Amino acid sequence: MGDHSHIRVAPWFKIIYSLLVFIGSQVDGENIVQVNVTFITDAVAKGAVCLDGTPGAYYYYPGFDDGVNNWIFYLPGGAWCDTKEECIYRSKYQSSGSNKETPPKGFWPLMRPNKTLNPDFYNWNAVWIRYCDGASFMADVEAVDPETNLHLRGRRIFASVMEELISTKGMKNAVNAVLFGNSAGGLAVILNCDRFRSFLPDASRVKCISESGFFIRAKDLPGAQDTAIDYFSRTVEFHKLAEYLPKSCTQRLPPELCFFAENVVNDIQTPLFLLNSYFDRYQLSSLVAPNPPNEVGWYNCTHETLNLPNCTNNQEHLIRDFRTMFLKTLDGLDDNPSRGLFIISCHIHDILWDPLNWQGKITLQNKTIQQAVGDWYFERSSVQLIDTEHTYPINCNLIV
Ligand SMILES: *[C@@H]1O[C@H](CO)[C@@H](O)[C@H](O)[C@H]1NC(C)=O
Ligand SMILES: *[C@@H]1O[C@H](CO)[C@@H](O)[C@H](O)[C@H]1NC(C)=O
Ligand SMILES: *[C@@H]1O[C@H](CO)[C@@H](O)[C@H](O)[C@H]1NC(C)=O
Ligand SMILES: *[C@@H]1O[C@H](CO)[C@@H](O)[C@H](O)[C@H]1NC(C)=O
Ligand SMILES: *[C@@H]1O[C@H](CO)[C@@H](O)[C@H](O)[C@H]1NC(C)=O
Repeated sequence: MGDHSHIRVAPWFKIIYSLLVFIGSQVDGENIVQVNVTFITDAVAKGAVCLDGTPGAYYYYPGFDDGVNNWIFYLPGGAWCDTKEECIYRSKYQSSGSNKETPPKGFWPLMRPNKTLNPDFYNWNAVWIRYCDGASFMADVEAVDPETNLHLRGRRIFASVMEELISTKGMKNAVNAVLFGNSAGGLAVILNCDRFRSFLPDASRVKCISESGFFIRAKDLPGAQDTAIDYFSRTVEFHKLAEYLPKSCTQRLPPELCFFAENVVNDIQTPLFLLNSYFDRYQLSSLVAPNPPNEVGWYNCTHETLNLPNCTNNQEHLIRDFRTMFLKTLDGLDDNPSRGLFIISCHIHDILWDPLNWQGKITLQNKTIQQAVGDWYFERSSVQLIDTEHTYPINCNLIV
């Protein structure tokens, strides 16, 4: 696998992330439909390509019955590559940088064609766009450095998939649409939400759902490393994202700060639902906690959920302070009635991959996430729920 020492951010997270994707994904007896890949037509000619130049691709499952004119899109997670070396590594060795291998995918619970599991969206057209650009579908750099052969074109992948489905699969008749994503894809949802809306000018209800994508800077958190800003600054710079970040943000703040959800969320015009934990496992373990090897004890504290009781006093303080800071960034977000909020206290990232979390293992005011998302989307009720009861992470894997 080569030398990993150049990977500065979250090497453990990458391992944990890949495990998460393969566990807890199925409930007893559930038959998850496997969907084959579709490559974007003429992707290479259009320049809608992955870091390594392989064509952009998506997984499409058609809608049926009264869902034929409704569309749900998924933008996956997988962090970001922030330097030439990281992006080269990703393009050569990781599925998040290349479409050399495109195995079939089973979809997230809110995209599955199962009415019991997914009563509100089960018969919608469902599209999973492969994430292989390393920058949350935001970059569009024409030039390709011949030395590295890196293509920075996630933005074009996103646009090409939209255009293709609009012209070939009836998406021009879309009535309802959702853009959903988690982690780096949850951030991509926030940053691409208004753009998504612009592809569907005639649709009546277009909304966005960001899961675990609300990465905060957590500046001046006593005892924390200020890693997120370094990681995001390098990402914004390397992928030349400044011109694509919301202008209303970049007019008042340096571009790297406009890659943080807290600074752009109020610039998003399209209705947006934020599903996040204020004890987000990735943020705590990889962006806030000092990375190894400087303090090995952090692994025991924040990486393994079951070890939370073993955190030192200092670590515990930092975790509690992070919560305070996270909640502060949400201040005022509930002023906007189109905004949905479901903010939990579990030590978790990638909340919705597990159908049990979607169906009721995690609730706020007795509402499951499935009900909350559906109620908000169809405006059956306003959903602005924040768990303020817990000041320390709870282990939602143990809730049954
Ligand atoms: C649909 O989802 C329910 C609830 O999760 C599950 O019990 C059932 O097996 C699923 N049906 C199929 C056909 O997979
Ligand atoms: C997916 O592709 C495989 C291999 O080409 C094929 O055998 C299978 O029938 C395809 N599945 C669907 C649902 O089209
Ligand atoms: C981490 O936990 C393991 C197993 O519980 C223990 O052996 C080790 O000493 C711990 N390391 C630190 C630095 O706390
Ligand atoms: C906490 O640490 C002790 C000593 O290292 C270990 O025996 C115990 O299993 C740890 N607790 C948890 C919940 O991991
Ligand atoms: C939730 O449901 C329980 C049991 O039905 C009930 O006692 C409780 O009051 C409910 N809580 C809220 C916030 O609705």
